[in-house]
Amino acid sequence: MAHELEKKPGLMSSDLTVAETLPASWYWDPAVLTWETQKIFHKTWQLAAKSSDLPEHGSYFATELVGEPLLLTRDQEGRLHGFYNVCRHRAGPVAVGCGTRKALQCAYHGWIYGLDGQLKSAREMDGTANFEPSQFGLVPIQVANWGPLIFVNLDPDAPAFETEFGPIMKEVADKGFDLSRMAPVERRDYDIACNWKVYVDNYLEGYHIPIVHPGLFQELDYERYEVVTYRNYSKQFAPVRTVTETQAEERRYARYVSEDQQADEAEALYYWVFPNLMLNIYPDNISTNVILPTELGRTLTIFEWFANPEATAEDMKQTIDFSEEIQQEDIFICEHVQKGLSSKSYDRGRYSVKRENGLHHFHLLMEEALRD
Ligand code: FES
Ligand SMILES: [Fe+2]
Repeated sequence: MAHELEKKPGLMSSDLTVAETLPASWYWDPAVLTWETQKIFHKTWQLAAKSSDLPEHGSYFATELVGEPLLLTRDQEGRLHGFYNVCRHRAGPVAVGCGTRKALQCAYHGWIYGLDGQLKSAREMDGTANFEPSQFGLVPIQVANWGPLIFVNLDPDAPAFETEFGPIMKEVADKGFDLSRMAPVERRDYDIACNWKVYVDNYLEGYHIPIVHPGLFQELDYERYEVVTYRNYSKQFAPVRTVTETQAEERRYARYVSEDQQADEAEALYYWVFPNLMLNIYPDNISTNVILPTELGRTLTIFEWFANPEATAEDMKQTIDFSEEIQQEDIFICEHVQKGLSSKSYDRGRYSVKRENGLHHFHLLMEEALRD
């Protein structure tokens, strides 16, 4: 049976003023999630680890990306490698967890692989005809390292990381931000009862800020808030309101109070990169949000904070507390929206031309990715 994607060419209008949002079924149809996994999550660069997960020569780190078991290693020369964490014998796990080894032994029958993925020894395989160990290395994946972040791409034909992230890396470097000095501070995981796109949609517009985030609204210059879209990413401008010193004393979030910090805010860069990554970059710290479907109607959002040595513990605590409050407000609204999208009363909505261009851009990229 033809799916609605095949039936309806040009589902999304590229003209924001006449466009309608994605059909509600995209947020609960299992077929859409399968396609998203294959055509989006397994084809785009995904933030999968931190440099500190592989701190030394011989480090390994097992992880998972939308159902695919993955393995990252740093070989004896310090080179980073990525593989499927799937033994070529009977699909056992080549590594579990993380640690440091000279070689990796499959937990099932004990085949041994080098940190470069080569099969080094396979027990009791002597009588097996035409068995050539050099043909049974681990299946590699693309890896890339940017500052404290490690990205993977499961598509061997995907454009290089530098091609996809180049403009962002350049802008960050041009502003004088040095990601290589940032070390991890904290990670928080949130399991949310909504489709991953509900969460991304919500992130991409400031339209809900006055209603959902009254605390944040007080701090922001909402009139000047805007989202600018690029090919596969968008950037948010979220300027803080300028205040007098007395007003500043009443301000709730110290992060936004001091003059220095106001300057920091002016310098801040907020990126969303298709499909599921947010990067919040400040002179002395960065945070990353990764939004992953875990099952139909459930999303894992992983928040991590990194800071350079000049950031104080108090600064970071305020940043994280502030983020936590906003996140809880967003979770509340996203879980309700998921229920609404599943209602038989709702299919597609319209966009605020002034406030929802970032959301429209995301929906166009979704349609393009699933259609190709
Ligand atoms: S599955 Fe790995 S050695 Fe058998
Ligand atoms: Fe929000």
